[in-house]
Amino acid sequence: MWGGRFAAGPSAIMREINASIPFDKALWGQDIAASKAHVAMLGAAGIVSAEDAAAIAAGLDQVAAEYAANGVPEDWDLEDIHMTTESRLAELIGPVAGRLHTARSRNDQVATDFRLWVRDCLDQTDAGLHALQVALVTRADEHAASIMPGFTHLQTAQPVTLGHHLLAYYEMIRRDRSRLADARVRMNECPLGAAALAGTGFPIDRDATAAALGFDRPTANSLDSVSDRDFALDFLMAAAQISLHLSRLAEEFIIWASQPFGFVVLPDSLSTGSSIMPQKKNPDAAELVRGHSGRIVGALTSLMITMKGLPLAYSKDMQDDKPPVFEAASLLALSIAAMTGMVAEARFREDRMRAAAELGYATATDLADWLVRQADIPFRQAHHITGSAVRLAESRGIALDRLPLADLQAIDPRIDDRVFAALSVEASVAARASHGGTAPGQVKLRVADARLALGWAPGLEG
Ligand code: ARG
Repeated sequence: MWGGRFAAGPSAIMREINASIPFDKALWGQDIAASKAHVAMLGAAGIVSAEDAAAIAAGLDQVAAEYAANGVPEDWDLEDIHMTTESRLAELIGPVAGRLHTARSRNDQVATDFRLWVRDCLDQTDAGLHALQVALVTRADEHAASIMPGFTHLQTAQPVTLGHHLLAYYEMIRRDRSRLADARVRMNECPLGAAALAGTGFPIDRDATAAALGFDRPTANSLDSVSDRDFALDFLMAAAQISLHLSRLAEEFIIWASQPFGFVVLPDSLSTGSSIMPQKKNPDAAELVRGHSGRIVGALTSLMITMKGLPLAYSKDMQDDKPPVFEAASLLALSIAAMTGMVAEARFREDRMRAAAELGYATATDLADWLVRQADIPFRQAHHITGSAVRLAESRGIALDRLPLADLQAIDPRIDDRVFAALSVEASVAARASHGGTAPGQVKLRVADARLALGWAPGLEG
C-alpha cells in the first residue's frame, strides 16, 4: 500500500509484529458498514462519481458475503482488516477500488470500526445483565420469606431473607447497567472524516456518515478523534466493575454449595465432577467467573497502560487496544450467562438455611431492641444485658429463646415472657420492615419496583 516510498519489503519480523489481522478481523462487519457509509457520502458529495460509488458499494457487499461464508483470510502482508478488505475489493472490481480511501485514513477508519464494535458490545452486555436481573428478581420473589443467616465478617449477624440477599445483587447490576448506558451516550460520536489526524481538504459530509452509522453527531476534534480510546476504557471500567459483582455473587454460591453450609444445590448443568473422588460435585463455573474477573481487571489495566503517555495523535501502540477489549468482552459475556443460569436453576435448601439462621445467636439484637422498646432501657445498656444472656445460653449450649424466663429475669428483672415472641428468626426478619429492610413485605415491594423497572409487569412473562 505504500510501495512508492520503499525500496525493500518488510522483514519477517516486521510483518509479524505489525500484523493485527489475526484479531482485528473481528471488526469486518463494522469495517464494511463504515466503508459503505463513507463511499455513499463520497458519491453524494460528488467526490467520486455515482457509478464508481455504486461499483465500490456492490464490491463491498460481495467481500462481506465472502467473509460471511468463508471467514476472513489472514494474510500478514495485508496487515489488518482494512487493507485486507481493500485488497480483496481491488481484486474484485479493479483500480476503482482505490477511490474508496479518498478523504479517509486507517486512523479514523479503525477508530470508527472499533467504536461501532464497542457500541454493540455495550448493548449486548446490557441485554445479558437484564436477563440476570430477571433471574435474580424471579428467585427473590419466590424466596421473599425464606430465612437464612445474614453475615458480617462471615460470622452470623442477623437473620435475613434469601430474597433480600438476592435483591442486593439486583441493585449492583442496576448500577452497572447505568454505567453502560452512560458510556454509550458518551461514546456515540463518529470519528470518520478526521482522516489521518488533521481532517481533510475534500468537501466531505460528516453529518451524513455519522447519521448513516447510527451516531448522534460527528466528533468535534480530528486529533482527539483518532487518538481517543476512552470509549474502550469506559467499557472496560464498566466490565471490570461488573466482573467484581459477578465474582462476589459466584463466591456466595461457592460458599453456599460447600457441605458445611449446604444452602444450595448447584445445577448439574453448571457443575463438574472429580476424576478421582466420585462423590464430588464442584462449582467450577462459579469459580471460573471468580477467576475471570482477574483477567477482566487485567484487560482494563493493560489498555490503561497502553494509552498512558501517548502523545497526540495516533501511535501504533494503539493497535494493542483491541485484544484486551475482545478478551474482556467474551469473558464477561460467558460470566454473565453462567451466573444467570446459576441463579435461575439453583435449588435453595430452605431447611438448611433456616437451621443455620437459628445458630450463632442471630436474634440477640432483637432481645436488645425489645429491652429498648418494652422496658425503655438505653440501647447501650440493653446491649450489655443481652451480652450476658448470650454468654449464659452459650455456656449451656442452648438457643437464646430456650433460656428459662427466671434465668433471664435474674440477669435483668425488667424482662417478661413477652420477650420470647421477639426472639424467633421469623419475628426478627418481620420486624426489619424499614425501607429497604429484610422483612418479607419489604422484599415483595422491592420485587414489584424491580419488575416495573425491568419493563416486566406481572402477566407479561411466559
Ligand atoms: N491496524 C491499525 C490499528 O489497529 C490500523 C491503523 C493503522 N494506522 C497507521 N497509521 N498505521 O491501529
